[in-house]
Amino acid sequence: DGDVFKYYSQGQWNKSSSGKFVPIINPTSRKTHFKVQACTQEEVNRIIESAKIAQKSWAKTPLWKRAELLHKAAAILKEHKAPIAECLVKEIAKPAKDAVTEVVRSGDLVSYCAEEGVRILGEGKFLVSDSFPGNERTKYCLTSKIPLGVVLAIPPFNYPVNLAVSKIAPALIAGNSIVLKPPTQGAVAALHMVHCFHLAGFPEGLISCVTGKGSEIGDFLTMHPGVNCISFTGGDTGIAISKKAAMIPLQMELGGKDACIVLEDADLDLAAANIVKGGFSYSGQRCTAVKVALVMESIANTLVKKINDKVAKLTVGPPENDCDVTPVVTESSANFIEGLVMDAKKKGATFCQEYKREGNLIWPLLLDNVRPDMRIAWEEPFGPVLPVIRISSVEEGIHHCNASNFGLQGCVFTRDINKAMLISDAMETGTVQINSAPARGPDHFPFQGLKDSGIGSQGITNSINMMTKVKTTVINLP
Ligand code: G3H
Repeated sequence: DGDVFKYYSQGQWNKSSSGKFVPIINPTSRKTHFKVQACTQEEVNRIIESAKIAQKSWAKTPLWKRAELLHKAAAILKEHKAPIAECLVKEIAKPAKDAVTEVVRSGDLVSYCAEEGVRILGEGKFLVSDSFPGNERTKYCLTSKIPLGVVLAIPPFNYPVNLAVSKIAPALIAGNSIVLKPPTQGAVAALHMVHCFHLAGFPEGLISCVTGKGSEIGDFLTMHPGVNCISFTGGDTGIAISKKAAMIPLQMELGGKDACIVLEDADLDLAAANIVKGGFSYSGQRCTAVKVALVMESIANTLVKKINDKVAKLTVGPPENDCDVTPVVTESSANFIEGLVMDAKKKGATFCQEYKREGNLIWPLLLDNVRPDMRIAWEEPFGPVLPVIRISSVEEGIHHCNASNFGLQGCVFTRDINKAMLISDAMETGTVQINSAPARGPDHFPFQGLKDSGIGSQGITNSINMMTKVKTTVINLP
């Protein structure tokens, strides 16, 4: 079947022997837009075998040469920004401008990673023995960082390119090989991104991209004995993976229910702007989206009005028109969001707008007076629906934030830096933003979640370190 995109292994584009494909449904038209190969377990075996072989010689390739190839891939990626962004628009309904931004950000990430890699992998440590009790200066210890082997990268649908390269580039600069399993929605954008790495001239087998059904190859990949590290971004599946995986380093970025605490002395225009941007950009489909606003009662009426004025200005429609709010990724996702909205309705939340849905397109919705017995107070909609909970004390806000099983990011709006610092310390999240909405970037900042939000820390430097192991050589003097 000629219109099924091929998967990438051994430096070539291949058809699967399964003869089957996985359809990619355009979230806007809800029709099949692309098809990708449904790879078999046998094909996964072959891919991992060649990744193992390619990694051995890649680890011996000088660091500056590895960096050079990454810089080349970054430049090619940027040259290809238009067609890749076009895929993102069709596969995941990302607004056209944001889709281009994702690709450009990805090119920058790859370059930065190459630069950071040559710096941090270019130096080791030298230790002497006589600092530890009972030792003379008879041992010299040299440390360096060595690669792990084969890294399995599984990015999510919301950043199929950026969250793929945030795993691929650190793995490669550190001397690992890469097996990429892209999300189904976004798989063609990912294949096109891999094509850029292909054009840069990386050795055969070093990078592979395997597509297919999670039910067929998902567990097979994550439990494969040939995999030495898994870097995953997504939802609950990550918890299942971490339970089943072997004794290998895992990097997991899972869900979030990022809270925004607004104090009485906050700049309310700034808070409203960030709540709208944080809550509704890419229709709320970001793990770092503002997912609950915890607002002091005394300013709640004023703030909610400011938020509503901005919500009214959001454009709603197809991603091709670069609308602010676009269709959510799948019908089941839209149904899930609707379930949360209906639950809030039944339990008496104040609807600041009328609930409106057409197909996968859900109009932005602010729910005021949400209470803890409503599902939306705790669950992440991953859609353009934002609950406001009115609080009567800062402690109440912190308590709500910490009662969540998630702990990705959070934010606080206040003009009092001392209060902000105390609240940051009290919030059990991986990051707290002061006077801005949660965000992962800039991409070299550490990025991590507590509790069910994940394990390990990302960001360029942390990812490079995580994808290496310390190796020591000890010189023993006579
Ligand atoms: O969806 C999860 C992403 O890691 C969030 O990244 O803050 O750049 O949107 P972002």
